[in-house]
Amino acid sequence: MMSLNLSMFCYLVSSVCCIMALRGLSGPQTAKGGLFFGIGGMALAIVTTLMVPDMHHFAWIILGVAIGGAIGAVTAIKIEMTALPQLVAAFHSLVGLAAVMIAGAAFNNPEAYKIGEPGNIHGGSLVEMSLGVAIGALTFTGSIIAFGKLQGIIPGKPVTFKGQHFVNACLGAGLVALIILLLMTQSAMAFWMIVAVALLLGVLMIIPIGGADMPVIVSMLNSYSGWAAAGIGFTLQNNLLIIVGALVGASGAILSYIMCKGMNRSFFNVILGGFGGEVVAGAAAVQSDKPVKIGSADDAAFILKNASSVVIVPGYGMAVAQAQHALREMADMLKKHGIKVRYAIHPVAGRMPGHMNVLLAEANVPYDEVLELEEINRDFAQTDVAFVIGANDITNPAAKKDPASPIYGMPILDVEAAGTVLFVKRSLGSGYAGIDNELFFYDNTMMLLGDAKKMCEGIIKALEHA
Ligand code: TAP
Repeated sequence: MMSLNLSMFCYLVSSVCCIMALRGLSGPQTAKGGLFFGIGGMALAIVTTLMVPDMHHFAWIILGVAIGGAIGAVTAIKIEMTALPQLVAAFHSLVGLAAVMIAGAAFNNPEAYKIGEPGNIHGGSLVEMSLGVAIGALTFTGSIIAFGKLQGIIPGKPVTFKGQHFVNACLGAGLVALIILLLMTQSAMAFWMIVAVALLLGVLMIIPIGGADMPVIVSMLNSYSGWAAAGIGFTLQNNLLIIVGALVGASGAILSYIMCKGMNRSFFNVILGGFGGEVVAGAAAVQSDKPVKIGSADDAAFILKNASSVVIVPGYGMAVAQAQHALREMADMLKKHGIKVRYAIHPVAGRMPGHMNVLLAEANVPYDEVLELEEINRDFAQTDVAFVIGANDITNPAAKKDPASPIYGMPILDVEAAGTVLFVKRSLGSGYAGIDNELFFYDNTMMLLGDAKKMCEGIIKALEHA
């Protein structure tokens, strides 16, 4: 058993480790160190919790940790990189559920949590508990809907109906009224009504949001789950839970903001929903009579080999095709020919923050070759070839030229300024935003139609024989 002071000290060390983890995870070079801090901090937190005074029922706890840990480990090992957003959504739903269950237990047995007696719970604890349970229940159902949409179990298309926002606003107001009722009466009915209304609100808030906006929503739900945990941390008088909950809440909110900024959309525009449905690969092919230059892997190899500088622009299609390894191999061959190769990363390329960085790191692409939009955008004008692989929206000039376009104002990579633009994708179809890209028809563009991985392998073969 640990003394209370020692456990407080360990919780403090654990909190600092979590802050260091976040700091480390903000860059690819430091990410590994950040992960170790996170693992160390969490391990210390678990051990400390098991050793605080009044801890009983170790067999149940160890059984729970073993079952939960085994499920978590198997899932983490098996999960595909492209399925990470839905995994995160699924895990957040559990955080929300845990918050509801802890609040329910504390409400039914307040003495065990030292927050009063049934019917006479301390006012402050009741406020924290009601907020924690409301946010937790909303996070639980909202995350399940987000998971279902991302996994394709439920249609990704926005589900809208007349008066939807009004219904949601009424439910939100009802939730506030029920919290006030609970504070005044401490009635069990008010408590469980809060749970029911918040569960319903979680569903209704997320169904109008298109599958394509789900990454922002997952990050927002991540933030909610953090705040729910912080609220419950107050109920349990657990400083670590308060600090870590607040860290998760704040970082999730900041991440949602960064994603919205990268897409040039307001957060309310995302929340109010209706943007982007299911993106069916290659479905919305551009209807145009303008000529398109279509090339082969051999043509691409010829152009690349004669370049002196190449900037690679990866996008969602590279992730789908898992083309990063073949791409790096291709880049290595170009470098052997003395060609300067760099990678340009758009802040919202792919479907989650850092998506492209993670895949390129997995393929051992050197970090110093990977540059952010602001670092490289001006260099396209001095670049011989922009090699766009599985990207679309993040290069679309409509963002600069067409005020009517849904992506107008979004910062884009100015690939068209390069001498030649090689565009690897399977069709002339649209991407996430569901809009045409006139870049496919530019004089200096050559379309390389096909799967990204197969195209890179074809180019490698052609370079070998060149
Ligand atoms: P997209 O605009 O979605 O374009 C991806 C392209 O990849 C598609 O046009 C598709 O064309 C192609 N593709 C799919 N599978 C392929 C395969 N196997 N081989 C080759 N190409 C393939 O992606 P982007 O340019 O990366 O832009 C990201 C978009 O997602 C932005 O609009 C952004 O706002 C949005 N978004 C991003 C995030 C984050 S945080 N990253 C979050 C929410 C939304 P074909 O079907 O013709 O092959």
